Amino acid sequence: MSSIDHSKRSFLARSAALSGVLFLGGISPLALAKNSDKKAFKISKLLSFQSIPHSTRDAVTIAEGYSAEVLISWGDGLFADSAKFHSDGSNTAADQQRQFGDSNDGMSLFEINNDRLLLVVNHESPNAQYLHKHGGELVTSGEDTLKSQASVGISVVELQRSQQGWRVNTASKYNRRLTANTPMSISGPAKGHAQLVTKEDASGSVVKGTFANCSNGQTPWGTYLTCEENFDDMFGYSSQAGDKITDEMALYGVAEKSQYGWEKFDSRFDLAKNPNEFNRFGWVVEIDPFDPTSTPIKRTALGRFKHENAAVQLAKNGKMVVYMGDDERGEFIYKFVSDERYKEGDDRHNRQLLDHGTLYVAVFDGGKKPHTGSGKWLPLVFGQNGLTPKNGFHSQADICIHTRKAARIVGGTDMDRPEWVAVNPKTGQVFCTLTNNNKRGSDKLPVNAANPREKNLYGQIIRWREQGDDHTALSFSWDMFLIAGNPNLYPPSDPRHGSSNITKALSFNSPDGLAFDRDGRIWFETDGKYSNTGDYLGQGNNQMFVGDPETGEIRRFMTGPKSCELTGICWTPDDKTMLVNVQHPGEAGDSTFPNNSPRPRSSVMMIRKNDGGTIGS
Ligand code: FEO
Ligand code: CA
Ligand code: CA
Repeated sequence: MSSIDHSKRSFLARSAALSGVLFLGGISPLALAKNSDKKAFKISKLLSFQSIPHSTRDAVTIAEGYSAEVLISWGDGLFADSAKFHSDGSNTAADQQRQFGDSNDGMSLFEINNDRLLLVVNHESPNAQYLHKHGGELVTSGEDTLKSQASVGISVVELQRSQQGWRVNTASKYNRRLTANTPMSISGPAKGHAQLVTKEDASGSVVKGTFANCSNGQTPWGTYLTCEENFDDMFGYSSQAGDKITDEMALYGVAEKSQYGWEKFDSRFDLAKNPNEFNRFGWVVEIDPFDPTSTPIKRTALGRFKHENAAVQLAKNGKMVVYMGDDERGEFIYKFVSDERYKEGDDRHNRQLLDHGTLYVAVFDGGKKPHTGSGKWLPLVFGQNGLTPKNGFHSQADICIHTRKAARIVGGTDMDRPEWVAVNPKTGQVFCTLTNNNKRGSDKLPVNAANPREKNLYGQIIRWREQGDDHTALSFSWDMFLIAGNPNLYPPSDPRHGSSNITKALSFNSPDGLAFDRDGRIWFETDGKYSNTGDYLGQGNNQMFVGDPETGEIRRFMTGPKSCELTGICWTPDDKTMLVNVQHPGEAGDSTFPNNSPRPRSSVMMIRKNDGGTIGS
């Protein structure tokens, strides 16, 4: 049996749980707390470890009974001949090309066999101050630019089981780096569109690279989905004369100068010279990790926006559904439904599923009780709901390229920065982290039922149940799993206190990473403010919680080192090892993580239970 078959089996085992367990409906929505000392939830049977306090230490801390160790860090070699990591930033672009990338974010594991796994990891962005020897934020040469471009993208790394846990195998034939310069193809409705044609590519169907790879998804046919998020950070104008940011570009937030300065040394990123290159990013890209020679494919049917992750779900009728968030203030939640059904074992058929289907945007209407309501999915289909030539749409391809504009015209609900979406395998309920939105309540972004707080600094986790528990349904009911806040500062009557499952000891801001384990525990990570003062008093460094979706109880499981984000979650097939990413430790210049490193390094953490048991049990 091929290795791909193994990975399919584990995906199906997780999905299959759905059919055997009834939805635990009737959970009462969490109101804002009436009394912060009184727990409004039943005690969870799912959670067995003791919650840990918040932390301001420059270290990973984890619940008692567990251990966390570094599996791999930025700059570690992926191949037998990779250069060693130099802690003074002196590694070259060629070195970085064969080393583990920077800012590891979303990731998945694929099973080769019982003792071998493929870890596929996104590298979101360069930590320029540590990447370059000169310590500056901007590239200063062509070599700097190539190094920066080699630090992002994706790593494929084989892991082997050992007595001490999983270890990287640098001799594996599967190991691979995909960067901002790796050739990729474009498929789906926008392939070949005039707005995807550039000087380098008259076909509008071949593009170099992927970057801003935030979170991810995993298909049942054994492929990995990487999501291009803040791609605008890489584009800018090398000169000011006569340059202009078009309305279409402005919708994706681009500024005149890029964040890293690539446009000065690589004209591909100069909007004055290559404006269409900008349209070739902001996609979900499908990668076959089992074939190191395969060309990744940008799937345009899934729309172009700042993709956070891609939660892939097999619907009861066999169609593939992909839930997706667009992480920007006032942007939307989407789902894609394939036209055709998944056929187990038919890779040729399944690998076309994400090219043909319907993209929908979510509408959240308010209900009688606060923080509840109903919702619907509006199709983004050419010729319907105002997506017509009158509004600038001449084809489905136009909708795929200008998805934000289309979603606004049809009337999607603007949200407080949708981050990860995840489906509870026990109930089919869909959850999405809405990380924060300090502009909510302004004239352009009035509060709405699902985004109810002005100047929302803390965020919320919304959830919905599709009509008939059918992921292809066009309507749903929703409520909140939690509303984050700070009970250290605000009384229960203040919306900034948060919902009843938030206490002084369990206060945090900006939920982001989100996943369910096989038993139905909800795991979420924060990417928020870590000052531990002012609005954020008592919240400490970024951290990871586990919750019981039925009772609403949450516990703090892990805290990160200084000025990092915790992100990325996956489990080995036996559920005895969990991987979590420490991303950009010391972005504020205050960390030596890991191991007193002169330059802090983003790292994958390997977490195990000391008694060898299932994580979370
Ligand atoms: Fe890359 Fe929205 O986080
Ligand atoms: Ca994120
Ligand atoms: Ca975030």
